[in-house]
Amino acid sequence: MRKVDVKTGRSYSIYIEHGIISETGKYVREITKAVRAVIISDTNVAPLYAACVQDSLNEYGFETSVFVFEAGEERKRLSTVEQMYAFLAEHNITRGDIIVALGGGVTGDMAGFAAATWLRGISFVQIPTTLLSQVDSSVGGKTAVDLSYGKNLVGAFWQPSLVLIDPDTLTTLPDRFMRDGFGEVIKYGCIRSKALFERLADEDSPDLDEIIYECVSIKRDVVENDERDTGERAILNFGHTFGHALEKLYKYSGITHGEAVAAGALLLTEITERKGMTAPGTAEKLRSLLIKYGLPTETPYTLKDILPATSGDKKSSGHKLSFVFLRNIGDCFIYPVRISELEDFFNLMGKKSPVSKAVG
Ligand code: GLY
Repeated sequence: MRKVDVKTGRSYSIYIEHGIISETGKYVREITKAVRAVIISDTNVAPLYAACVQDSLNEYGFETSVFVFEAGEERKRLSTVEQMYAFLAEHNITRGDIIVALGGGVTGDMAGFAAATWLRGISFVQIPTTLLSQVDSSVGGKTAVDLSYGKNLVGAFWQPSLVLIDPDTLTTLPDRFMRDGFGEVIKYGCIRSKALFERLADEDSPDLDEIIYECVSIKRDVVENDERDTGERAILNFGHTFGHALEKLYKYSGITHGEAVAAGALLLTEITERKGMTAPGTAEKLRSLLIKYGLPTETPYTLKDILPATSGDKKSSGHKLSFVFLRNIGDCFIYPVRISELEDFFNLMGKKSPVSKAVG
């Protein structure tokens, strides 16, 4: 059993253990006196794990019900949350009760948002079942839904009261979704841990439990320093500005989030290396690792397509867009670029920019 304690506005523990979902009731009972627990899950995950989670909650005295929505990012909408509200109302869910988010990032973000807003906020538990949600979205309290204008535009910071990570759930995950998660795992190595990066590069089949633990520990450190995402937390967005632009260019199909982040991170690192802001050889190390984990190293799109698609990015503030650049593997910095100067900045290939302008 591995355990990571997170000290934010609401402090909580993250447990990583094989088979832990069958003990959900025990862990949830430790953190609440709730009478009712509502499991929120989607049509992919509910048939696999909802009964097991429900049985365990029942065993520990919870009155349980299960809300299941159609799987897919396109359901991450206020209309689905409204259906959740109706379900919560029909089941008399009070402020003292609890929501259990069982599934990947869409489920966690949306059930978290329902928890943040139902009766102005009730407790919720994250049981992430994809690698991406285990290493990233289930930790740190970002909850959201998408609008037609963009992803995650409406949301709230609302920390879970408990996170249960069961690596056994990854055995049912299609390969592509494992690769999707590895895009984020590699990101953690790039921004904060040369040791993690090297383990991923050197070992044939690195211990997944240890990898999840290391990623979650890095995320905990960052989130504890900057819960509301006003500074350091932006480093978690390495590769994401170009990644989100690529997702938009692909019209959110044909490329996963982790794949887009991987391709975006590599393109960015090639550019900053050419500009003399990143140690020579860094992009090549990243390229080799992405290939090893079956992640894309190129896309049909060039900077000419990608730069305009960064407009409206959530990482913009006023007239600036904050990028995360690598100094080296395991060492990054935040670098704001004026939106009006984006094209100039990225066209300055080969010219050196002073790294001293960097923040963080
Ligand atoms: N996934 C980025 C963050 O939690 O800040």
